[in-house]
Amino acid sequence: MTTLPPDLAQRVVRWQGHSGRHDLPWQGTRDAYRVWLSEVMLQQTQVATVLAYYPRFVARFADVRALAAAPFDDVLALWSGLGYYSRARNLQRCAQVVVAEHGGEFPRSAQALARLPGIGRSTAAAIAAFCFGERAAVLDGNVRRVLARVLGFERDLARADGERALWQLAQTLLPAREVDVYTQGLMDLGATVCLARAPHCAACPLAEVCVAYRKGRPLAYPVKLRRSARSRRSHALLWLTRGGRCWLARRPEQGVWAGLWSLPEFATAAALEDVVRGWPGNGHWLEPLEHALTHFDWTLQPLRWQLPARSPPPDLRALGTGRWFTHDAALSLGLPAPVRRWLQTSSLPTPARRATVQPTTTFLSRR
Ligand code: ADE
Repeated sequence: MTTLPPDLAQRVVRWQGHSGRHDLPWQGTRDAYRVWLSEVMLQQTQVATVLAYYPRFVARFADVRALAAAPFDDVLALWSGLGYYSRARNLQRCAQVVVAEHGGEFPRSAQALARLPGIGRSTAAAIAAFCFGERAAVLDGNVRRVLARVLGFERDLARADGERALWQLAQTLLPAREVDVYTQGLMDLGATVCLARAPHCAACPLAEVCVAYRKGRPLAYPVKLRRSARSRRSHALLWLTRGGRCWLARRPEQGVWAGLWSLPEFATAAALEDVVRGWPGNGHWLEPLEHALTHFDWTLQPLRWQLPARSPPPDLRALGTGRWFTHDAALSLGLPAPVRRWLQTSSLPTPARRATVQPTTTFLSRR
């Protein structure tokens, strides 16, 4: 049985008043559009990063109707770099559902909010608590850590029954009033005091009632026994240019970088070399890039190929659907962050290896 400190909420609310964050651009409003937008941006993204994106986004899309009506490419372009592109797609879908089915007003309960695209239980609770004062518990990564430590929660949060039990405790801990301040306080504690690897227990308003602190083992919580294995993938990318333009292909609607414009992708370096063999111009392999995504580590190896502007372009059918973009037009698109960085490099990096036109063993698999 987990015992609940009776004054936990009061401690959090008091601490939030003097030591929590009050100046974030999405605070001080009960406008559900703005709160929703910030909460979706903050899913798996640091506040410091969101601070750069949120103001631009609300400047371009002032309300839910503007976002719902925008071309998706405009949404992606402003989202580009935040990662997790399915979030951008769900973001616009959600705006469209709010307009089409709710008359442009977000529903006012956590339960109804959680039925909208891209709004999970915790995000729904945050919106309902911040905008409508509903007693609904949030349990994002930071809050989960704070509660697991303070309660000394021993069950495995990688298991559904462990997670369900913590949700229930989180709900029981909610104060009768000021649930918005309490919710923000828990988030602030997780982000600034109860840090994952180096908690500042001396500065924590909950230290006196914290089980993990009393045991001297804050890092032992949250307990997570079942680990998901990360996998590894590698692909070759073709960075093709001709007369100041580059060739970009639209990514499929499903999967990594869904719907973004990117460099055409090939399963292996050898497959890509097969395609460019015999093309005019010249190319070289750039240094491979290691890109970490949620579930796997991705090695990306770009082949930079410059076609001469004066000779006719080769048959590009092997590249699938795509088109030429000027440099500026390319940079205005929704691009994956590493692709944007490559395109932004104006001078060419030193070749890592000349591309050969001989049959090769796969460069990537030899790494
Ligand atoms: N992370 C998730 N929601 C947040 C919020 N409202 N303020 C700061 N960080 C957050």
